[in-house]
Order: sequence, then structure tokens, then C-alpha cells
Amino acid sequence: MDSGKPSHRGSFGTRLGVILASAGSAVGLGNIWRFPTEVGNNGGAAFILVYFGFVLFLALPVMVCEFLMGRSSRSNTVGAWKVLAPGSPMIVAGYMGILAGVLILSFYSVVAAWTLDYTFMSLTNQLTGDQDYAKIFQTFVSNPWKPLVFLALFLLLTHWIVVRGVERGIERYSKLMMPLLLVIIVVLAVYAAQMPGAEAGLSYLLRPDFSKVTPSVALSAMGQALFSLSVGIGCLTTYASYFRRETRLMSSALSVCLIDTLVAVMSGFIIFPAVFSVSGVGVDAGPGLVFITLPYVFNSAFSTMPVLGYLFSGLFYLLLILAALTSSISMHEITTAFLTDRSVQKNVNKSENYGLPRRRAARIVTLVCILLGTACSLSFGPWKEYTLCGMGVFEWFDYVTAKFCMPLGALMISIFVGWYMPHREVRDQLTNWGTLSVRLYGIFRFLARWVAPLGVAIVFLNELFYGTTK
Ligand code: PHE
Repeated sequence: MDSGKPSHRGSFGTRLGVILASAGSAVGLGNIWRFPTEVGNNGGAAFILVYFGFVLFLALPVMVCEFLMGRSSRSNTVGAWKVLAPGSPMIVAGYMGILAGVLILSFYSVVAAWTLDYTFMSLTNQLTGDQDYAKIFQTFVSNPWKPLVFLALFLLLTHWIVVRGVERGIERYSKLMMPLLLVIIVVLAVYAAQMPGAEAGLSYLLRPDFSKVTPSVALSAMGQALFSLSVGIGCLTTYASYFRRETRLMSSALSVCLIDTLVAVMSGFIIFPAVFSVSGVGVDAGPGLVFITLPYVFNSAFSTMPVLGYLFSGLFYLLLILAALTSSISMHEITTAFLTDRSVQKNVNKSENYGLPRRRAARIVTLVCILLGTACSLSFGPWKEYTLCGMGVFEWFDYVTAKFCMPLGALMISIFVGWYMPHREVRDQLTNWGTLSVRLYGIFRFLARWVAPLGVAIVFLNELFYGTTK
């Protein structure tokens, strides 16, 4: 466990860097693309309230557990288990994290690739006028090569940042992109709130109708909370292995949850007033909400001032790209760190640690993700017929990770930290070796031991047997 000695691994330089990098991982397509989709499909304000509950009582404690494991072990998602639970079968959670990281990055990059194309189209003024936006979207995603070019471009951009290392790559670019993202989102939300007819959208988000909360809505909210906060696959364990001794784990986790939730809610405030201000557009358009409904909304809402429509949509897709990029680097780093790390512990078999140069490790991850991402992307076009149980490659990757790996990982992490990790080490990590108050410690312990594992177990078993959130 952490001896306080400097290691050969990188570290985040500042407190702000820690928060912005971790928040960068959390804030992503999950907030701006998936959250409004889920809200629209699950009835609005009531879903949001339930979601808040899961963030606070479930995802937040698991995030603290991941932070704790990462800083205590100073190792990647697999290494952390080797160091903290040597010889334990729980190491499968580590390997599952690697698998999930690669799979999520592969399908996530497909949506990011669409976003890149839409940014490009909106900046070159191709998304204006009275057009059939559903057809434009369909034609693009089913094109055999165009989405692949953008997919490779997006992954190479991610690669370019990751090879620069922890401080000069991840931290530096998160510090640059996150404030920009926050500014864009506030500008767009203020703008959207002033659109004619926006009140209907605002009341949809602010007036809960609790009759809409069914068990399946609650389960969707829980799945969304885990995905949105990047917990369960060791992504934040990896980031926390770069935290310094002074980093406050609990308050950092709280800040990350706050920023993530704020961005999700603000995305709702951008999308729903805009959608409601245009008659004839449904809130439950599903994944197409952002790519089909919004261009249509931008055009109708600003039909008398096309310049504003052009600016609004350009800024929106730029926001989506920034958010996707700060998350994709964190997914990439899970496996890059795994391949780069050398043995830091005597009891770890050296041959199990790859110790590759960062450049080579990152190249392997990027290449594998381009290949797997290509399969996901093609499943919208030429490979559409290749399905298993009715799902194509993209859907399978999404299903296996969000419905299986993440809940199972979160379950194992909270059980391990809550029940098996030495009490003293947990306390030392959370109070920075006795220098911080112990007030919240009791609450954390209760949440980590009981609430989080039971909560995740319920969603996991339900998804496994009934697949209700699918
Ligand atoms: N939290 C990210 C989002 O909301 C997705 C993510 C999942 C990132 C898992 C890293 C690890 O888009």
C-alpha cells in the first residue's frame, strides 16, 4: 500500500487538475446524449429526482471506493487488485475493467464519430434549411466508409492526448477543455430558456409526476448513474493512482458528482425547452434526439435568424465533442496504464506486468479500438444483418458493458472496500492520514457496506434476468 515514496508513475499536478480530469471522465456523451434520451423515455422530472438519489447514495460511494483503491495501491485497475487483494479471485473485476474499457471506447467512438461529422456539417452550414434530418442521419450512419474515417480521426485525437502522459496530456487538456465545455453549456442553456414556448420544456423538467416512477424507470436511473459517473470498471481507480497524498478523496468525489449532475441537468435544460418550443417534435425520440430532432429544432426555432441557428448548432456539437474526448481519454488510459505499469510490489510476479513504453501501449489500445469500433460502426450499415438475439455488434458492446460489467464491477468494488479492505487503510486514505475530519467517514462506511452493494445487486440481477433497462 501507499508508502508515500515517489513512484516512477506520473501524477496530477494540481487539485484543480484532479477534479477537472475526473469530472472530464464523468462528463461525456452519457450526460449530453444519453441522459436527455433517458429522461425523455422515462417521463421527465420524476426520473431526474430518482436519478439524483442513485447518484448520491450509490454511484458516489462507489466512486470514493475506486479513488481509495487507486491511491492506496498506486496501480492500474488490475494492479490495484493484485496489490490490495493478492491471490484473490476478485482480480476478475480488474480484467473485466480492461475488457469493458476497450469495448466502451470502441462503441463510444462511433457516436463520437457521428458528432464529429455533425460538428463539421453544422460549421459548413449543411444542417440548415428544410431538410429530412432523419434521412440525413440514416444515410450517414449507414455509409460504408465515411463514419469510419471520423471514427479513426476521433480515436487518433484521443491517442494524441494520451501519449503525452498524465500531467502534460490528460491533465493539461482536461484543464483546457472542461472550462470551455462549462462555458458553452451555460451559454446554450440561457439561450434555450429564452426560446418562445420554452416554459413547457422547463415544466417538464421541474414538475415531477410520481405516478410515472415504475421499477423499470428506477432501474434505468440506476444504470444511467453508474455510466454517467464512469464507475465500476476501474477507470477512476486508474486516475486516482495519479493522485497525490494531499488530494482529498471524498471532497473530490463530491465535486465530480456535482459537476457531472449539473452538466446532465443543464443538457436537459438545453434540449427540452428547445424541443418543446417546436411543435410536432416528441421528447421520446430516443438516440436520434440529438442527431435528428435537434437539427430540426435549431432550424425551426431560428427560422427568422438562421445565423443564430447556425451558431447554436455549431456550439452544441462542439460541446458534445469536447465532452466525448475528455471521457475517451479516461477509457483509453485504463488499458494504457495496465500495459505501461511495472511491478511496484515484491509479491507481484514480474512477468505479469507488461511495463511497455507509453507510446507502444497507447498504440496497441488505439489500434484495437479502431478495429472493434469499425465492427460497431459497420453494424449500422453493411453489417446490419449480422445480429445475435436481435442485437448488432454496437448494441452487444453497449449491453455487455453497461448492463453486465459496470454493475458487477461496482458490486465487487463496494463489497471489497466495505468489507475486506483493512479498516485502518480505508480510514487513513479518507482522512489523509488523520489530517482531515472523520465526520463523513461513518456515513461513507454505511453506504459502501450496505446501500451500494444491495442497490447494485438489485439492478444487476434485474437486468440479468429481466433486461428491463434495455
Ligand atoms: N461517464 C462517461 C459519460 O458519461 C462514460 C464513461 C464510462 C467514461 C466509463 C469512462 C468510463 O459519457
